[in-house]
Amino acid sequence: MLTIAVSKGRIYDEALPLLAAAGITPIDDPQKSRKLILRTSRDDVQLVIIRATDVPTFVEYGAADLGIAGKDVLLEHGAESLYEPLDLGIAGCRLMTAARVGSPAISGRVRVATKYVKTAQRYFADLGIQAEIIKLYGSMELAPLVGLADCIVDLVDTGNTLKANGLEARDLIINITSRLVVNKAAMKIKHQAIQTLIDQIEHTLKHR
Ligand code: ADP
Ligand code: PRP
Ligand code: MG
Repeated sequence: MLTIAVSKGRIYDEALPLLAAAGITPIDDPQKSRKLILRTSRDDVQLVIIRATDVPTFVEYGAADLGIAGKDVLLEHGAESLYEPLDLGIAGCRLMTAARVGSPAISGRVRVATKYVKTAQRYFADLGIQAEIIKLYGSMELAPLVGLADCIVDLVDTGNTLKANGLEARDLIINITSRLVVNKAAMKIKHQAIQTLIDQIEHTLKHR
């Protein structure tokens, strides 16, 4: 059995066609079903539906053989213990700093609200900027508006969320896409099945 960890929402939606090309079609729809383990059209493949930030954990411990996770999540988790054989090119966005429109440039000493604590710490340290990081779990865009932080580190796609909250993007930290990740032991023990799956998805990516 191959177990693949995926999060609900945009990653699941965008991964479906890639999985379908490898003959994997879930039998239940996670938007409708409360099931957390989804059987698929392939008897030897199941999906587990988890939070996006939990995907590296499940794969690292071998609770899932494979997973699909954003590079943002992998960077923050520290993914040295995982193989990352494919950039799936899905759920594309940018990890950026952002601040209130017209507020002073980020320099010297700043307070930063983010859920990407380690990534932000590393980023500001590399720039020689003293940053006090405030960990939030969501609605980061609110923090500069209510005086909780000078700026945020968050994902930007269309920029609509920033705009709606009177913020502007400042610096690009890194471009983000979702990646296929594989448990290292599983890659050895289930090599044939996993390599075939990687090859099938890679072939689909090349021809899409
Ligand atoms: P969460 O509940 O953790 O926010 P999402 O489905 O929103 O789950 O995000 C999962 C992944 O999708 C993120 O880790 C990131 O890589 C990517 N992502 C998040 N927001 C966007 C967005 N607005 N546009 C494109 N990709 C995004
Ligand atoms: C993500 C991200 C930003 C927004 C950026 O939120 O955390 O808030 O998308 O996208 P935009 O530039 O196109 O506006 P998401 O939609 O995933 O909401 P949630 O994670 O807070 O549920
Ligand atoms: Mg989100």
